[in-house]
Amino acid sequence: MAATVLIVDADPRSCADWEALLSNQGYMVVAARSGEVALMLCPQLQPDLVLLYDSLPDMQGLELCRLLKANPRNRLTPMILLAAGGEVSDASRTLGSGADDFWGHTPTPWEALSRVHSLLQMKTYIDEQAESVLFSLAQSIEARDPFDRAHCARVSNNAVRFGKSLGFSQNVLDALRIGGLVHDIGKIGIPDAILSKAGPLDPEESRIVREHPIIGEQICAPLKSLRHVLPLIRHHHERMDGSGYPDGLRGEQIPLTVRALQIVDICDALTSDRSYRQNLSLPRALTILYEEADRGWLDGPLVSQFASLVVGSEGSIALGNRRGLGSPQGTQWSENDPSGKFNRRGV
Ligand SMILES: [Fe+2]
Repeated sequence: MAATVLIVDADPRSCADWEALLSNQGYMVVAARSGEVALMLCPQLQPDLVLLYDSLPDMQGLELCRLLKANPRNRLTPMILLAAGGEVSDASRTLGSGADDFWGHTPTPWEALSRVHSLLQMKTYIDEQAESVLFSLAQSIEARDPFDRAHCARVSNNAVRFGKSLGFSQNVLDALRIGGLVHDIGKIGIPDAILSKAGPLDPEESRIVREHPIIGEQICAPLKSLRHVLPLIRHHHERMDGSGYPDGLRGEQIPLTVRALQIVDICDALTSDRSYRQNLSLPRALTILYEEADRGWLDGPLVSQFASLVVGSEGSIALGNRRGLGSPQGTQWSENDPSGKFNRRGV
């Protein structure tokens, strides 16, 4: 995919020159004429590189660079500060702004392309390394809990399978595959004592647990390649009736992919052994999914479609860790939280 470069420049002629130069090399170029527009555009666009001029109508480039870098979504984005008139002479201020490169004069086209290319190569390398670290981190979090091993891999595989049965596009299936792997990455912020606690969580422990979708989103936000996965991370504990967290989204405010992932995630948790109960049989797990749909928590039609999928392919679909003998009647969850989604399982 072509790299995207955001040009922040108040001068329309200079902007047009940059667009022509960079577009000619296959880059996608987006222009912002003011700092305010750049601040609004950058987190959504997540460009691969920002080239900003120091003299803007509404703020200095140094300040803009500092503000852009303060947003986690822009932190890994290389930024070039161009002060062709030599307005920025204080090197420490320039470095303090977070700029990755500083051009004190207008470069020749060859110089500009060479340096842009180098920074983009560095960005690609950092993204690849960061993505690999995040996947390893997600795996290491699972490894902390002996009852949770391979849960995310199964959720990932089964979410893709469910998504295919629903006719999702390849891009959405890719998001489900990655989202299944990293949706609980925010658990890194939850102490082991809470993760593996056998009894119910107290209010303070529940508060800590409920932060994990936001922590997970913050961890993954700087990576452009994970942008399409962020809603799956942030919203996988929302409920259809608005009683979930962290945003209390209702009904179709919760993206369809999230609603699908939730069902796969809960079913795998129910059919897995936990520190507080043995695994449940598939029929019992499906009954609980239907109960949660009746309570207004899960998407009822999606639960039916998921049940049709797994009942028809139980022999070929890997569900739960099933280390124990199973506990068809189920034990230890509260009447208000049958799957334990918002207390035990939801960790
Ligand atoms: Fe979670």
